[in-house]
Amino acid sequence: MPDLRNLFPRNERYFQTSVWYCWLCQFIRSLTFFLMGFIGYMVNVVFGIMLVSGEDKITEGLLYPRESETREVRSLDGVWSFAKSDTKQPSEGLREKWFLKDLADSTNVIHMPVPSSYNDIVEDAAVRDHVGTVWYERKFFVPKSWQTQRVWLRFGSVHYEAYVWINGNLVARHSIGHLPFETEITSHINYAKENRVTVLCDNVLLQTTIPQGKIVEQDSDNGRIPIQQYTFDFFNYAGIHRSVHLYTTPNTFIKEIILDTDVDSEGNGIVGFRIIANNNDTTNYAKVMIYDRERNIVDTQAVDGSLTGTATIRNVKKWWPYLMSSDPAYLYTIEVKLSTRAEENVDVYRMKFGVRTLKWTNTSFLINDKPIYFRGFGRHEDSDIRGKGLDFALLTKDFNLLRWIGANAYRTSHYPYSEESMQFADEHGIMIVDECPSVDTDNYSNELLLNHKFSLEQLIHRDRNHPSVVMWSIANEPRTQKTNADQYFAEVARYTKLLDPSRPITAAIAVHMNSDELAKYLDIISFNRYNAWYTNTGRLDMVTNNVVNEATGWHEKHNKPVLMSEYGADTVEGLHMLPAYVWSEEFQSQQFSKHFEAFDRLRSSGFFIGEFVWNFADFKTAQTYTRVGGNKKGVFTRNRQPKASAHLLRKRYFELASELDNYHTLPTNLYEYTSQNQKQLDRNEL
Ligand SMILES: *[C@@H]1O[C@H](CO)[C@@H](O)[C@H](O)[C@H]1NC(C)=O
Ligand SMILES: *[C@@H]1O[C@H](CO)[C@@H](O)[C@H](O)[C@H]1NC(C)=O
Ligand SMILES: *[C@@H]1O[C@H](CO)[C@@H](O)[C@H](O)[C@H]1NC(C)=O
Repeated sequence: MPDLRNLFPRNERYFQTSVWYCWLCQFIRSLTFFLMGFIGYMVNVVFGIMLVSGEDKITEGLLYPRESETREVRSLDGVWSFAKSDTKQPSEGLREKWFLKDLADSTNVIHMPVPSSYNDIVEDAAVRDHVGTVWYERKFFVPKSWQTQRVWLRFGSVHYEAYVWINGNLVARHSIGHLPFETEITSHINYAKENRVTVLCDNVLLQTTIPQGKIVEQDSDNGRIPIQQYTFDFFNYAGIHRSVHLYTTPNTFIKEIILDTDVDSEGNGIVGFRIIANNNDTTNYAKVMIYDRERNIVDTQAVDGSLTGTATIRNVKKWWPYLMSSDPAYLYTIEVKLSTRAEENVDVYRMKFGVRTLKWTNTSFLINDKPIYFRGFGRHEDSDIRGKGLDFALLTKDFNLLRWIGANAYRTSHYPYSEESMQFADEHGIMIVDECPSVDTDNYSNELLLNHKFSLEQLIHRDRNHPSVVMWSIANEPRTQKTNADQYFAEVARYTKLLDPSRPITAAIAVHMNSDELAKYLDIISFNRYNAWYTNTGRLDMVTNNVVNEATGWHEKHNKPVLMSEYGADTVEGLHMLPAYVWSEEFQSQQFSKHFEAFDRLRSSGFFIGEFVWNFADFKTAQTYTRVGGNKKGVFTRNRQPKASAHLLRKRYFELASELDNYHTLPTNLYEYTSQNQKQLDRNEL
């Protein structure tokens, strides 16, 4: 059982250094930029020093907003006012204090939906390709009844950096997109009156942000302008990407719930819990109830003092991945009722959780003592119009497609996905390789390292209680052959394992095993390789052996389990060519099939634990001459319609479920009738 006691003090210490370090960096950076006569394109550069009071804090609280008898939740999603700053004057609105009055009184505003990326909403390349700051604003009322409560404002994610004002007062500042942040606004709001929330969002990526980017100045027909460059292969969508919530808590409230589950030798579920109340008063006490899916109480615990305890679930129903059990994704509910010496049940919070064990060896990865074989995808949060904005229709459709195709896992390439999607994964039994936003990491520096570690700290804090999360991915395609990569990743890996020793860590590596300096720090080695695509383009006869040899090489070098985290081919739906030719549907299917052969050979060698196709669906990228309307490696189109390869992959994933996980209730429409003599696998033969 991981030692939960060390989690917080450690983080607090780390935070102290990080704040002062960044403060200093910003100072030096702004000085340098100033001396160079260069306008800071990141508002940080100019205003960082003035806004220290709103600095990032170590992650605290952030329980997902849920109603209970002691808590109210209100959504601020909807249509907000929006204004783009002048690219050459990113700090203009700050200097002129646009946050002090209605945005429309300072500048021209347009409508902007929240949640959504702003890039594809407007018919204007200047908005789509904007570099720098944008402003969002809306009004809201707070009922009089909230006056006796604490009121919180919570953002699911704003990419990349956010400043938030309530009625003109700066209440929050957060950087690193794809991660939630919240702040108490009790003393800043007008009860029973109108309030204004103003958000400044800055999408600039620098060499020290996660992910990294670079701003270069170039001549255009409109003079010198800043250009955002980045090496990663997805569009740098920006804006308020996830829901905005107002919620209340009582004065004394539950700030954190940390769970740690296990199963004992008799098959009982052991649920270690630690509750943290905001007042940190040792006279607090709490009642913890565990409910099963049918709402029966299965255990009750009373704790006081440290509010730490252990609940037991007799004959626990374990959380199993989809197709690994006839009753997968079993979730219990934990109900926490916090009391103080003065008042009983001051705060109540409920959340779902699952009980499962994870173990890993040099050759395998086990869930509930059964070897896992991942049948998965790399994905993106991406869709037409909304970009990276949370969309429940899309989310539900995607999980339906994952089930349709028989997948049991995906990696949150290349950043944390929405909290709502993590809840879906728990509910559907989809295993998650949970990745932080570090992509193509290069140019290692201390400031980058601190941000990288902070991104993992925020991610682990957010997702530690999800049974679906089975692994942390600490980076995607880092340049681990470069100077300092060794020290850098030794520290990232050490820190991640310190925060959560209960899950293995991995990273998706693309450099050659002979020059890589990261794999030795991982528990499980993931590699990305595009045989017959980026190398030996079109050569379907140069796939199978290469995949077998590379996976085997990784295992022989490090004696660890290996999985293939990316393989694939760009495919234009409807393009058919025989014999198979790159970009055609035939080529994608045949290239997959060559990989399947390699995977089957590798499976018999005993250390190979999974395959992840790149990608689930087509997605948007920066404009380049290698991308036609974006990256087309999807098994589904961007509109979530299957390419030919989807039907092929579906057969394989269900056949694997049948062979490896004893899952014999195959979909009846997996194969179509062709003839009486059809040689097909059906349920009788399996
Ligand atoms: C590396 O990062 C530093 C900031 O830490 C930056 O000043 C420098 O220009 C970067 N080097 C390259 C080659 O991008
Ligand atoms: C909470 O209380 C414990 C025990 O009294 C103490 O060790 C700890 O430092 C306190 N933490 C905070 C954040 O005040
Ligand atoms: C796992 O690998 C490590 C490093 O190669 C080795 O020291 C250890 O003995 C191995 N464990 C088992 C059970 O083989």
